Amino acid sequence: MCGIVGYIGMQAASEILLAGLEKLEYRGYDSAGIATVGEGEIHCVRAKGKLQNLRSKLEGIENPSQIGIGHTRWATHGKPEEYNAHPHMDVAQRVAVVQNGIVENFRELRLELQQKGHEFKSDTDTEVIPHLIAEHLAHPESAAPATLASSPFLEAVRQAVNHLEGAFAIAVINADYPDELIVARQQAPLSIGFGQGEFFCASDTPALIPHTRAVLTMENGELAKLTPLGVEIYSFAGDRIKKSPRTLTWNPIVVEKQGFKHFMLKEIYEQPGVVRGCLEAYTESTWDASHDTPPVNLGLDESFYENLDRVQILACGTSWHAGLIGKYLLEQLAGIPTMVQYASEFRYAPAPVTANTLTIGVTQSGETADTLAALAMEKERRKSLKPEYQPRLLGITNRPESSLGYLVPNIIDTHAGIEIGVAATKTFVAQVMAFYALALDVAYRRQMLTLERIQEILGGLRQLPGQIELVLESQERYIEELAHEFGDTQDFIFLGRGINFPIALEGALKLKEISYIHAEGYPAGEMKHGPIALLDAKVPVVAIAMAGSVYDKVLSNAQEAKARDARLIGVTPMDDKEAAETFDDLLPVPVVDEILSPLLSVIPLQLLAYHIAARRGLDVDQPRNLAKSVTVE
Ligand code: AGP
Repeated sequence: MCGIVGYIGMQAASEILLAGLEKLEYRGYDSAGIATVGEGEIHCVRAKGKLQNLRSKLEGIENPSQIGIGHTRWATHGKPEEYNAHPHMDVAQRVAVVQNGIVENFRELRLELQQKGHEFKSDTDTEVIPHLIAEHLAHPESAAPATLASSPFLEAVRQAVNHLEGAFAIAVINADYPDELIVARQQAPLSIGFGQGEFFCASDTPALIPHTRAVLTMENGELAKLTPLGVEIYSFAGDRIKKSPRTLTWNPIVVEKQGFKHFMLKEIYEQPGVVRGCLEAYTESTWDASHDTPPVNLGLDESFYENLDRVQILACGTSWHAGLIGKYLLEQLAGIPTMVQYASEFRYAPAPVTANTLTIGVTQSGETADTLAALAMEKERRKSLKPEYQPRLLGITNRPESSLGYLVPNIIDTHAGIEIGVAATKTFVAQVMAFYALALDVAYRRQMLTLERIQEILGGLRQLPGQIELVLESQERYIEELAHEFGDTQDFIFLGRGINFPIALEGALKLKEISYIHAEGYPAGEMKHGPIALLDAKVPVVAIAMAGSVYDKVLSNAQEAKARDARLIGVTPMDDKEAAETFDDLLPVPVVDEILSPLLSVIPLQLLAYHIAARRGLDVDQPRNLAKSVTVE
């Protein structure tokens, strides 16, 4: 979704802004722009489409300005046209603003401003902000608090943001204050990077790490003034806040393709390492049933586990699929009743409050607006209730530094690192790993599994990195070839049962996201209750038939599809004669304990989606209309 960058310092700003925007491209966007201050004027250039279009417009223009803001826009209000691209300016073109989020009361504000003579040029909600700031500069509504008396521009931004409703992050420059870059955050991410005599801001850290590892994540209701001399932070009420940056441990190399054609493929190949990383982080490698210490250590306080009766998982998209596997594990291994809800549904129709309930928010970005809002709502509605109903919140994410990290007191860091491809792959596998660890931890504490069974499952998990590597090595070439055969296919059906039903959903979501082929996932047993009507020779069916309790059932369901002429593709156990006789195409994976099978069955489906999309020549990493972090409702 939209991206913000800002710079103030001693270097020419425009190249730094463009390079920063390139680092945010992965989030998805449809237009871009930058604004700088030079010779008492704002120089603003915007372009529809890819950043290259903006680069072309800027080519040959000498611009030594040392302050500027930049933006990649993902359209919410108004079409993806140049006139709607950010930065937006006031009538006199003295103030320029970039914004992420949505100003919910923009219609009222726009009307008020129009009545005062402000003319608008775009259809966006954002354009009210520069006009509002200009209005407050010209006519301050009250005397500035003592802390801000010497900063009229900052004070005007402070007064303006206090009139905005919704979730937003902004960066603002002013032709009359060429040494000040003002930023503000309310429910949309924004961080400040600290350099030597130069400062940066960005809505996501990949734009900062090429310059500095000293990063300060802003919190809701904060605004900051960046000058070449330093950073001052204030609350929206005008109180000065003392804060220091922390040091990011990231390696800039993780945001490079490293020889892979796409980030998605690189991230698929990173999955064995991700599983290893999770095992190292959560488990003691020498643990076995003879130990009297817990098999898993998630770093959570003992009180976290006390009187735990229920779990509710809130998430969206792929993270919701990880939540479905989490439910299976928590119920089947730890015996805890668990429900999984779409965060976007839960926030307006929450389940009745139950006692001793753990609420888990799962999100790779840590910034998904619906998930954050659902968690905040849950926290709020429980806080005045009796002790047993008090909020007990846990976040599962690979971005502990995100807004999620500020909202919930407990985080399981999935250690997957940043993911650039819009289609989630390694972050999904990492979220599922976190659920294995949590389910085993709770099962151990509640004595729901024997130590020998825990040892068996942990032993199986330790085999997985090598087994995923084997699937990648043995399958990729074949799947690349197979993908050629679906050049004209318009619909796919994915079937799975039990712990692999969420993998059917995930396989279908991956395919539709990046190949734009219509795909649906169903529990295999449900096919005959309706979807079977769709089947004919033109609709391939992918069935996940892993060894275990539902293997025969899935094979029977696959036969039902075959009887309707569907081409059958099976994700099956390796060297399985029955599967070889049933399916037209085989995507075999090593035989593992059924409870562990999703971590293997998902791999060929990721590769299938990837190669079908790549074969069609589509933009795999930045599919149309999608964004890596969905920061609006
Ligand atoms: C996954 O491939 C999708 N891009 C999307 O469904 C995603 O999982 C969803 O938007 C939730 O994102 P989150 O994990 O960052 O909360």
